[in-house]
Amino acid sequence: MKLFDVYPINDINITDAKGSYVWDDKGQWYLDLYGGHAVISIGHTHPDWVKRIDEQLRKIAFYSNSVKIPIQQELADKLGALSGKNDYQLFLCNSGAEANENALKLASFHTGRKKVIAFSKAFHGRTSLAVAATDNPAIVAPVNETDNIVFLPFNNEEALTAYFQDHGKEVAAVIIESIQGVGGITVATESFLQAIRHWCTESGAVFIADEVQCGYGRTGKFFALDHAGVNADIYTMAKGMGNGFPIGGILIAPHLSPRHGMLGTTFGGNHLACAAALGVLEVMEAEHLLAKAKESGEYIMSTLQTIQGLENVRGKGLMIGFEVSEGLKGLRKVLLDDYHVFTGEAKPNVVRLLPALTIERKHIDEFFVALRAAVAQLSGETPVAENKKVQA
Ligand SMILES: Cc1ncc(COP(=O)(O)O)c(C=O)c1O
Repeated sequence: MKLFDVYPINDINITDAKGSYVWDDKGQWYLDLYGGHAVISIGHTHPDWVKRIDEQLRKIAFYSNSVKIPIQQELADKLGALSGKNDYQLFLCNSGAEANENALKLASFHTGRKKVIAFSKAFHGRTSLAVAATDNPAIVAPVNETDNIVFLPFNNEEALTAYFQDHGKEVAAVIIESIQGVGGITVATESFLQAIRHWCTESGAVFIADEVQCGYGRTGKFFALDHAGVNADIYTMAKGMGNGFPIGGILIAPHLSPRHGMLGTTFGGNHLACAAALGVLEVMEAEHLLAKAKESGEYIMSTLQTIQGLENVRGKGLMIGFEVSEGLKGLRKVLLDDYHVFTGEAKPNVVRLLPALTIERKHIDEFFVALRAAVAQLSGETPVAENKKVQA
């Protein structure tokens, strides 16, 4: 049977991983500045996380949500403590799209309204409403097209105000990434996020912070929205939550009341996924990963700014993007092929860095040796052979 060919892939078979490194089937190591798309939060195969999962697996991996699953409460308590959102409620699911789907559905149930405001270049996932709220017509199937989603320009307070003044009472939810990931590491201004909070409160709409990529400590605060000093009504989470174990969830403000039948899931909140997520939070706490992400991010961004040919360096914590000049268009490929460094991209020419929050200074410095060499190589200053100096 053939695999359904939906991704352009690199011809690399990764078979082992540890911390910020991965190894292929030929024994070649790679430095991972991409974290498998922002998923690896506490480093690959962190021993405490492996132990947590292993211990749980030997007891019970899954039972349905028809019985008590105390480890869900344990996870909720830990999540409340680390995120500071103790009074919120937790609903568990399996992925980012599913988290957004549930958040949007809940907002509509709560308000009895249909309109959702999303923003230019947003990415919220590939399921029906999540993809409809994604600003990329190429990935929206005809059946997912809906007039219920309204796209407004990102970071444009006037447009937001005008829409709410005219249609505020029709709006069920506003959904936004405080830092757009797929959209190219575009940081929402604090005043824009505060304006969303204002208008949602004013009109009774639900403020949904899509923290699937930018959340879970990546920016140095638990949620990227925390930098703006306002709360969302729903936070959606996935990627870093399980460090590669599939789990997603939504944090729901106390004024949103549940009722049976509103949301549901077979796999969401299973024992094994909760153990993985608890393992992540325990490591985040023990290794002070929020503070570390902030510090490492500042070091990376200030160093990037000193490298010629890299433009418009931006981001927060370990969610970093920069553009490359015309001559450096092949930078990501050269970094991967010649220097064995994984990075992410956003079309057309943004390089995205989304390393594990545990990344150490020596890894970052190795990255800069590789990056400087790759830039010099592409600028025609040095041949590749001289530059292959980075060692794992
Ligand atoms: C901001 C954001 N929301 C939602 C998603 C969808 O998450 P998933 O692929 O787990 O469904 C992504 C994935 O890249 C994302 O970056």
